[in-house]
Amino acid sequence: MADDQVFIFDTTLRDGEQSPGCSMNLEEKLRMARQLERLGVDVIEAGFPIASVGDFEAVQKIAGSLERVTVAALCRAVAPDIKRAWEAIRSAHHSRLHTFIATSDIHLVHKLRKSRTQVLHDTHEAVAYARSLCNEVEFSCEDASRSDIGFLCEVVEAAIAAGARVINLPDTVGYSVPAEYGAMFHQVRERVRGIGNVVLSAHCHNDLGLAVANSLAAVANGARQVECTINGIGERAGNAALEEFVMLAKTRGEQLGIRTGVVSEEILKSSRLLSTLTGMMVQRNKAIVGANAFAHEAGIHQDGVLKSAITYEIMTPQSVGIKYSTLVLGKHSGRHALKQRFADLGYTLSPEELDRAYTEFCAIADQKKEVFDEELVAILEDRSKSTVELYHLEHLHVSTGTQIRPTATVELRKADALFVDSATGDGPVDAAYRAIERITGVMGKMTEYAVKSVSFGHDTIGEVFVRVDFDGVLFNGRAVSTDVITGSVKAYLEALNRAQNSMRRKGEQASAVVEAGA
Ligand code: KIV
Ligand code: ZN
Repeated sequence: MADDQVFIFDTTLRDGEQSPGCSMNLEEKLRMARQLERLGVDVIEAGFPIASVGDFEAVQKIAGSLERVTVAALCRAVAPDIKRAWEAIRSAHHSRLHTFIATSDIHLVHKLRKSRTQVLHDTHEAVAYARSLCNEVEFSCEDASRSDIGFLCEVVEAAIAAGARVINLPDTVGYSVPAEYGAMFHQVRERVRGIGNVVLSAHCHNDLGLAVANSLAAVANGARQVECTINGIGERAGNAALEEFVMLAKTRGEQLGIRTGVVSEEILKSSRLLSTLTGMMVQRNKAIVGANAFAHEAGIHQDGVLKSAITYEIMTPQSVGIKYSTLVLGKHSGRHALKQRFADLGYTLSPEELDRAYTEFCAIADQKKEVFDEELVAILEDRSKSTVELYHLEHLHVSTGTQIRPTATVELRKADALFVDSATGDGPVDAAYRAIERITGVMGKMTEYAVKSVSFGHDTIGEVFVRVDFDGVLFNGRAVSTDVITGSVKAYLEALNRAQNSMRRKGEQASAVVEAGA
């Protein structure tokens, strides 16, 4: 290992996925994991196998499907968790058990109800057991940043003595500031015996918006692994954003003396895929992957960039994978041109995918003169969703205006049966949602609704995002359409289908448990 290399440990599928509205099914997790491998991360934390049968199966599938990357599974510092995590990852080409226990007095007293002596003992036992199963063991001191430094050093030393190869010191609650977080790594390196034999790791939450800054402070003090997520998703305010840390290392790496092995040109694709799979969009001004991240709006900035990009651009759009060209396709463009453009944008389509995309493209090109690259990507992502469609929109008719009560008639297909119903509402979207409720009998409470244009022009494709509360659980939906009402209905149906699939999976898991116990 070169000393300036910082390993990227991606926890999008574990810490990221466990945050509200970000859940993915097995197929979706596998697609994301494959993209993360293309992105070139060093470790993928695929899940928390003891948490549910679904989590276990997803980790197992990912472990068996990837080749280059190390697949990690999270487990508490107790034998049943560790055993289950190992069962899930044992088939991986490169596997890592990641076990953790809290070390702050706050957690010991209020959560674990354990003494420091007990935590020290559990640490040793857990790491030794994990090492008896797996060659590579990472140990995390949960809430490290609020732990007594003397005790923290004792726990880390016990974990190293028991065989841990990676020591992770999380800022679990996003409370730390860079100088303090960096100092903790400095202290641990000074005081712990055997610390030179392990990789130190940073894991920062973003409650005060400092996750990436804190990760950098850790790296400046010897950490050589950073744990992060695509788009910064994760518990509460999220985790350190992978794209921010990676581009920081790429843009300022020479001065900072660090680099990562990530293929930065795959960043935008990874970000968009995650948004498509979870329905969780990134804000326009999000660093690196937001729609405005490379847009120069002010006249003086535009003028400068046109004269020389270096005036206002610290990194090129191409370096994060933005490949949009100024050439646009239209209704006279053929299948071959479409295939070529997708290839230029970095997407290799199978003949079936190309057929589907071409049909969709023709429908859109009929409605608008020019189809921009952003719209092509949006179409492709929309078509490649893996949510099982229990309800499919067959027809939608709305009647609305300033002087009439908005009315919607919706026809849905479920398996081979067609259902149709009508309703009125405050607006056409509300009316359509009420008609869907009448058909399905499932009530949802809309908690978020957003529409944004994919490119520009009044005829651009609209991207609709919804977050709906079904029985206290939030589900996201996303859809693109040249008509925002149709998009709104499709997005709602996606959230509804996710909710129904999730209920079905829970039902299947419950009966599997009953059968196993019988
Ligand atoms: O934030 C945290 O402390 C964690 C650990 C389980 C690694 O996610
Ligand atoms: Zn975390």
